[in-house]
Amino acid sequence: MAKPMANGPKSATSIAFDVLAAAALFLIVPHARALDDGLARTPPMGWNSWGHFRCDINEQIVRETADAMATNGMREAGYEFVIVDDCWQIARDADGNILPDPEKFPSGMSALADHVHARGLKFGLYSCAGYTTCQGRPGSRGHQFQDARQYARWGVDYLKYDWCDDGGQNPRAAYTTMRDALRATGRPVLFHICEWGKSEPWRWGRVVGHLWRTAPDVLDAWEVPSPEQGLGIVQILDRQVGLEKAAGPGQWNDPDMLMAGNAALTIGQYRAQFSLWCILAAPLIAGCDVRRIDADTLALLTNREAIAVDQDPLGKQGRKVRDDGDSEIWARELHGGARAVALFNRGASDAPIAFRWEEIGLPAGVPAKIRDLWRHEDLGDFTGKFEASVPPRAALMLRVAQD
Ligand code: GLA
Repeated sequence: MAKPMANGPKSATSIAFDVLAAAALFLIVPHARALDDGLARTPPMGWNSWGHFRCDINEQIVRETADAMATNGMREAGYEFVIVDDCWQIARDADGNILPDPEKFPSGMSALADHVHARGLKFGLYSCAGYTTCQGRPGSRGHQFQDARQYARWGVDYLKYDWCDDGGQNPRAAYTTMRDALRATGRPVLFHICEWGKSEPWRWGRVVGHLWRTAPDVLDAWEVPSPEQGLGIVQILDRQVGLEKAAGPGQWNDPDMLMAGNAALTIGQYRAQFSLWCILAAPLIAGCDVRRIDADTLALLTNREAIAVDQDPLGKQGRKVRDDGDSEIWARELHGGARAVALFNRGASDAPIAFRWEEIGLPAGVPAKIRDLWRHEDLGDFTGKFEASVPPRAALMLRVAQD
């Protein structure tokens, strides 16, 4: 039964007013501005200790990582932030100041930040909105402004802010408090909301932080049977469908770190993750031991043509344009009108995958040049459609341009 109207039938003027108000809301809300601070105009790039080292992190590893990134081509390819995740902190002093673990970080965070900055890189730290972090270390609840001032003194450029031990806080309010605390320091700090997509931060994150996790932790796995510890790459990918509208310069969906350089998957699987993450305009945060990276992984992480897709200045996140079960097509509009396309085969055998120009938003009758962004090869001119055979559990990544 229809709900009875409280105040009798509405007048034509009142209906017109409601329609106008709804139209105004529609126009305003989806375009609410990102933090207007000039940070993260393209998705952040860097390295995070958690992907490979978990809690077993120390200043020596972080220093050597910064040294490696500054000399192995990663910094030149765009990797900028060196982010120390959970387990750097151990307690608070009598005045409530957060203290780094003196055994693991004997020189302190300021010296570590200096080392990273001297390599032309930026320094990131991790904290949590709860009283304790996900590893039971001190979180920042009740100390947000004090911690933010400390981070600024140390020279922190990026804060990843987690959601363990949340104590029933309202996520938007808790993250806004930390945003304001960082802002009050006057230091530009990129703010990473990490509440795993639980309260749909793609709806509110743009005015609070620069990027927000959209899903549970990524694991070094393709698919996991039980999701307690996190999800495999394709399971994370499935959680990204429909979120594309929330992304843009200064405001990014974060499907979590790149697993390339770890042990469980093939280079083709890691390339598939990288390709899709670039179409998704995802932050590119390496999660391996970059001090001991092999040549194939380094070539993967520094593929300039793929990175150019991720960092495209239009800042428009791509989306899944077709799903045929194991075969998927993901496409992204680039600055200047070209498209980046990933032909993704999730299955266990070779698959022919084809797409038509209209599916990726290009006019059907106009020929297009296609370039393979992994082989760094022009494949030629094609009209109307393109088809290729894609190996199992792999992706082709193409640039399709009509001139
Ligand atoms: C959570 C986050 C991870 C990592 C760990 C550290 O699980 O989602 O990315 O920061 O905490 O404890």
